[in-house]
Amino acid sequence: MNNPDNYAVIGFPIHHSKSPRIHALFAEETAQNMSYLAQEVRPENFTSAVNEFFEKGGKGLNCTLPLKELAWAFATNKTPRAQAAKAVNTLILQANGQILGDNTDGVGLVTDLTRNHGVNLENKRLLILGAGGATRGILLPLLDTKPKSITIANRTLEKALQLAHDFDNHCEACGFDALENQQFDVILNATSASLSDELPPLPENLLAENGICYDLAYSNQPTAFVRWGIAQHAYKSVDGLGMLVEQAAEAFFLWRGVRPCTHDVIDLLNAHR
Ligand code: ATR
Repeated sequence: MNNPDNYAVIGFPIHHSKSPRIHALFAEETAQNMSYLAQEVRPENFTSAVNEFFEKGGKGLNCTLPLKELAWAFATNKTPRAQAAKAVNTLILQANGQILGDNTDGVGLVTDLTRNHGVNLENKRLLILGAGGATRGILLPLLDTKPKSITIANRTLEKALQLAHDFDNHCEACGFDALENQQFDVILNATSASLSDELPPLPENLLAENGICYDLAYSNQPTAFVRWGIAQHAYKSVDGLGMLVEQAAEAFFLWRGVRPCTHDVIDLLNAHR
């Protein structure tokens, strides 16, 4: 057999990454001759590490925290969704030798919500908690699903206003205190509060009947936001493990031109929580 095509995920830290496992399962399922490793890269070494990777014949990279903005600046060409996100999680070596940057996070989220969890976002009232990089990364694909409205609520109001402005005010912006007496069909947690098991201050009755709660973060234990959703009698309250697998599947498709089946991989990761 020929030498495998080389791919990797880079980030700092990286040891916890599930991506090598996910891509190995995809490669096995679709019979692709490829390797996919995890490599720790600090932001200050980003450019030299990425240049070296491609000079040695590497075909594609995933970039995770805190490197997504650096990857965006590095990519010669960018897809519209990467341009809107101002962040890149997938670098692709093109036939002409240039590097294309894409962002598959938002499409991964939408695929997980709509296909895996059966949630139709069209004409729904969406609330996104947080106005950082994670929110910017998902806004364009979410707007494409034609929701009734998207509201961004953030601790620092200015950041939410700026984000809404950057997306031509197709979404609304507010602080958490302005959520009193409002209701939403789908609430997405894109704050980094989950990582420290914290929760933004959320009023009672924020979630409409049969509403959906989705935490972009994932954890072996239910996150504070997933627990909040359960306490609010959400129809579904889930974390972002499926989004992780779906954004990987989209990157895999960009690299290999083959779309892997994600259901078994999600089931396997869920079984090993
Ligand atoms: P990421 O790239 O993961 O989005 P980020 O750009 O640092 O990370 O953004 C983190 C987001 O989580 C921000 O919206 C932040 O709110 P501020 O803009 O007010 O800082 C939000 N966040 C973090 N911890 C939070 C907490 N304990 N409660 C509410 N919001 C929090």
